Amino acid sequence: MGCDRNCGLIAGAVIGAVLAVFGGILMPVGDMIIQKTITKEVVLEEGTTAFKNWVKTGTAVYRQFWIFDVQNPQEVIINSSTIKVKQRGPYTYRVRFLAKENITHDPETNTVSFVQPRGAIFEPSLSSGTENDTFTVLNLAVAAAPYLYPNAFVQVLLNSLIKKSKSSLFQTRTVKELLWGYTDPFLSLVPYTIPTTVGAFFPYNNTADGVYTVFNGKDDVSKVAIIDTYKGKKNLSYWSSYCDMVNGTDAASFPPFVEKTRTLQFFSSDICRKTSVHFTSSFSTCKS
Ligand SMILES: *[C@@H]1O[C@H](CO)[C@@H](O)[C@H](O)[C@H]1NC(C)=O
Ligand SMILES: *[C@@H]1O[C@H](CO)[C@@H](O)[C@H](O)[C@H]1NC(C)=O
Ligand SMILES: *[C@@H]1O[C@H](CO)[C@@H](O)[C@H](O)[C@H]1NC(C)=O
Ligand SMILES: *[C@@H]1O[C@H](CO)[C@@H](O)[C@H](O)[C@H]1NC(C)=O
Ligand SMILES: *[C@@H]1O[C@H](CO)[C@@H](O)[C@H](O)[C@H]1NC(C)=O
Ligand SMILES: *[C@@H]1O[C@H](CO)[C@@H](O)[C@H](O)[C@H]1NC(C)=O
Repeated sequence: MGCDRNCGLIAGAVIGAVLAVFGGILMPVGDMIIQKTITKEVVLEEGTTAFKNWVKTGTAVYRQFWIFDVQNPQEVIINSSTIKVKQRGPYTYRVRFLAKENITHDPETNTVSFVQPRGAIFEPSLSSGTENDTFTVLNLAVAAAPYLYPNAFVQVLLNSLIKKSKSSLFQTRTVKELLWGYTDPFLSLVPYTIPTTVGAFFPYNNTADGVYTVFNGKDDVSKVAIIDTYKGKKNLSYWSSYCDMVNGTDAASFPPFVEKTRTLQFFSSDICRKTSVHFTSSFSTCKS
């Protein structure tokens, strides 16, 4: 009526142009707002989204183990044959599910310190067998004894204890025992009070590996969760090379805005060193 076809086209074009201009402005503004929000929310301090997720890791973290099974223990003992092993695994455990403790903030250095209590829960669906699977492995207590006590008389004594406990150079143990600890029959016979539990990660449950101090990212968002010191030191004093440096994060989280070209460094106290990962390809969740 009042508006003919031409008028409608012009109105449409004007509205379109206005929207395009708005879009042109809003896109960078939106990006800026998102970036600003992220920069604010990833800071590790009371009240941010990241902090809650960081205190108690929100996503499942798994640790997998592969163990070497000795195939020819008798041949090695009797004929000094070359050892033959077969790798089996993975045995998967869910770790890092406990909340961090003793969290203290230092606003002056923009750091936060904490201990991470440890726990491991077996995850059958991601494992090749059960925790009761058995492996034949080196008997660490028996193998180490002659090196620790070179004295001939002591060795005779230890040898009698090894025989009495029916221990040998090799032993058959379950995955659970090997990883989390078992009472060693030979060490139990030693007439002194010594630790008698042996295990690759014993003690684990409800222990902590030491105090970590990490950057909270308030002054520099690219430093979020990067470890400043571990047990109060920047070096481990264990290795003689770059392995000795405590670099990167604990691998549970990384700073935001990571480029694919960036090498991600992280530190693991279990292997007592830092390590790093490079981007190779995107993980595809689509199975066709
Ligand atoms: C040790 O070697 C001998 C001779 O080669 C062989 O007869 C015997 O079966 C071997 N023992 C074991 C436990 O393999
Ligand atoms: C946390 O701090 C308290 C008091 O300083 C201390 O007794 C406790 O051992 C600490 N916890 C851990 C896991 O280190
Ligand atoms: C450690 O604790 C978890 C539960 O937090 C339990 O499932 C697991 O069996 C425990 N491991 C050992 C070796 O006690
Ligand atoms: C493993 O062995 C223990 C003790 O013999 C038993 O209680 C448990 O049910 C076994 N677990 C599996 C998965 O077979
Ligand atoms: C830490 O290790 C690096 C590399 O080995 C070395 O250059 C540096 O001096 C060490 N720092 C301290 C405090 O020991
Ligand atoms: C690793 O940590 C050491 C010691 O804190 C530091 O000197 C070095 O610059 C760090 N290296 C990287 C690549 O961050």
